[in-house]
Amino acid sequence: MTMRERLKHLEDLRRQAELGGGPERIAAQHAKGKLSARERLDLLLDEGSFVELDRFVTHRSVEFGLDRKKILGDGVVTGYGTIFGRLVYVFSQDFTVFGGSLSEAHAEKIVKIMDLALKNGAPVIGLNDSGGARIQEGVASLGGYAEIFLRNTLASGVVPQISVVLGPCAGGAVYSPAITDFVYMVRGTSYMFVTGPNVVKTVTHEDVDMESLGGADVHHTKSGVAHFVFDSEPECLEAARQLFHFVPQNNSEEPPRRETADPPDRQDERLLESVPDNPNKPYDMLDVIRRVVDDGEFYEVHAGWAGNIIVGFAHLGGYSVGIVANQPAMLAGVLDIDSSDKGARFVRFCDAFSIPLVVFEDVPGFLPGVAQEHGGIIRHGAKLLYAFCEATVPKVTVITRKAYGGAYDVMNSKHIRGDINLAWPTAEIAVMGPKGAVEILFRREIEEAEDSEAATDARIEEYREKFAHPYVAAARGYLDDVIDPRETRPRLINALDMLRNKRDSNPVKKHGNIPL
Ligand code: HXC
Repeated sequence: MTMRERLKHLEDLRRQAELGGGPERIAAQHAKGKLSARERLDLLLDEGSFVELDRFVTHRSVEFGLDRKKILGDGVVTGYGTIFGRLVYVFSQDFTVFGGSLSEAHAEKIVKIMDLALKNGAPVIGLNDSGGARIQEGVASLGGYAEIFLRNTLASGVVPQISVVLGPCAGGAVYSPAITDFVYMVRGTSYMFVTGPNVVKTVTHEDVDMESLGGADVHHTKSGVAHFVFDSEPECLEAARQLFHFVPQNNSEEPPRRETADPPDRQDERLLESVPDNPNKPYDMLDVIRRVVDDGEFYEVHAGWAGNIIVGFAHLGGYSVGIVANQPAMLAGVLDIDSSDKGARFVRFCDAFSIPLVVFEDVPGFLPGVAQEHGGIIRHGAKLLYAFCEATVPKVTVITRKAYGGAYDVMNSKHIRGDINLAWPTAEIAVMGPKGAVEILFRREIEEAEDSEAATDARIEEYREKFAHPYVAAARGYLDDVIDPRETRPRLINALDMLRNKRDSNPVKKHGNIPL
């Protein structure tokens, strides 16, 4: 065979590999509103940057006639490319080949790029669209999943790992995305569940369809499994790209800085009106965040779940920061089970990847109630406390209004290594709010008073004067300063500049034991 003939053969094989399950199955995929594995990679990566590995891999299975049915690539496209010029490793499951199901060979391809990612310190992005373990391969397929789970775990906190779920994701297969840092889903086509509707029906006799069992909205608003949800695959993949404005390549690199024309000394007059005069009135903390960060751009994480806490990424003076904020507009910004979990996971991601934490605080305390206590608010609240305590990245707090009780301690207080703690003049920092405090301290006096309402009001006023302000905390140095709300942006950027070379560490240990 001449070189030209050999090249022609290579060209034919490559074309065959690119077709996956063939034009008909690709058309069926499109008809479901889904893109093909390669079209997805084109949208995710910088144009022309994708380099494919293992396009000639096939399975080694002989059962159920599979020896006569081999497709180049075996249901997953793997390799590397760039996002905004930075290296990322990718795998994209191809539903047109055996339903994207995971064979031993398919798993080996994924494992290969995960190993490369760990060695070379670059993120891994998985585009998941799979019927799960390849049934004909039995335990070899289960072993393949376990190899992936192991690498997900070893890579956790070393390189960012992102899962984009763009089809079914069933059985134990959901646990790879679950271990990764961020899960993206698409309404109407993405599903995640440990067992599907049929098994649910058999075991619990519940009638439920795929969408209401494990659709994108369910995981975005109820379970908290999905951090992001979108209406279409192109929007979803574009959003996954945008995350790379904020995250570093690995745990020893700094996060990317982003040029901005937004002046670091910009002051926003409207911040003077953010906190209502009446301390019991809600306001939107998202508005405060947007007025402070570069260009008003906030990349919110978990926007649909546990809305009483806000978490997400932004830039401040070009620095990538992780923002954690109480949301007074939802449940008065109280901390409960889900908001504690949401906050803790985000804080740990930022700390693992050297992203400074900026906290906006307005929290009346932990949510009381039987459901919360029985649901383990003690255990869950402890996660957020633990996460803030162990974090060694630059940590800055701005108390806009309430900082009451245990929640004051938890929300990045000075005592748990907050580096710069600021408060607006509207801050109220004490063991509890005025009404609750007065009812406990002066119960007998109020009961015995002729006009108990007037007695209560007088004591509340006294308590307010004594405690419902920032100056007791400031007098002890628990606050570094009380600031004009308009100065928030310049002061935060100044603090981040000052903390740029911060070095802090925790005692040497195998690992801590976060209260899971
Ligand atoms: C082998 C599979 C497959 C699988 C689908 N296919 N899933 N082949 N192993 N797990 C094949 C189908 O036979 C079919 O091939 C093609 O992929 C497309 O599948 P359809 O059923 O026609 O597609 P659709 O109607 O869209 O339904 C998709 C689906 C369904 C919901 C994913 O295929 C399904 O329920 N599959 C099984 C899901 C499952 O139970 N997996 C095991 C989970 S347990 P042909 O040639 O006919 O077109 C698991 C354990 C993980 O994953 C362990 C980790 C610890």
